[in-house]
Amino acid sequence: MDAMKKSSTKNHQIFVANWKMYTSADEEIRIGSENYDNFIDLARNPNHEIILCPSFLSLHTLSNIFKETPVQLGAQDCSEHNKGAFTGQVSAKSLKAAGCSYCIIGHSERRQFNAENNQQISLKFQHLLDQGIAPIVCVGENETEYQEHRALQVLEDQLKEIFSLMRSSKYTLRDLPICIAYEPIWAIGTGNVAQPEHLNTVFAWLANQTKNIDPSINWKFLYGGSVKANNAAWLKEIEYLDGFLIGGASLDFQEFEKIVYCTN
Ligand code: PGA
Repeated sequence: MDAMKKSSTKNHQIFVANWKMYTSADEEIRIGSENYDNFIDLARNPNHEIILCPSFLSLHTLSNIFKETPVQLGAQDCSEHNKGAFTGQVSAKSLKAAGCSYCIIGHSERRQFNAENNQQISLKFQHLLDQGIAPIVCVGENETEYQEHRALQVLEDQLKEIFSLMRSSKYTLRDLPICIAYEPIWAIGTGNVAQPEHLNTVFAWLANQTKNIDPSINWKFLYGGSVKANNAAWLKEIEYLDGFLIGGASLDFQEFEKIVYCTN
């Protein structure tokens, strides 16, 4: 299914499973196949959007497995280039052909371990829009920046180029979701979830920043960083939040299901 179709429904929540490099491609395919009916049941609910982001290697197979179902596939990254001599990279066009409707870009692990900068991330963003793939742009401050109350300043910096691209009205987006995932680095994989007061400030800021860019843009705001079954209920109460980017907890279907249904 296309990212555009379901997102036109208001009040639905987006659950992105970021499987990172936690397991092998075979195992990812096994998780998808063994839970085929379960994932479809979750995604069939009109209030849920379920997006699986496995490694590149299993993306095509999983997208074939879930073809013609409401379960959607996303990639964990894409190249900042269109095509050419870029060994080891995967283009947005190939992702589209592999059945991707979403793609994570600018994840803090890529910023940290692959030295990605905001300019590269904005190029990736443009290639995704050109292909009609919904981008999930990850932003977030580190522990020191958080302690020094500089989170919004960091976000402003990380989103500057994306916002100016969106202001330029160069793209015909129709309903394509433009997702911003706020993932404080100190919350990723640590068990430390950002507190409601901080999240309210950040998401209100995001809503305010994006409000005036172009009212027709389908902005979606996600939170990521130690989302688990035991904190999903209160996190869902955060104003302006449209869903979650879930790492470690998303590989265990039972845990993932509990997050989606808020049962603990
Ligand atoms: P986590 O990861 O849920 O394991 O903290 C989230 C992410 O990095 O996207």
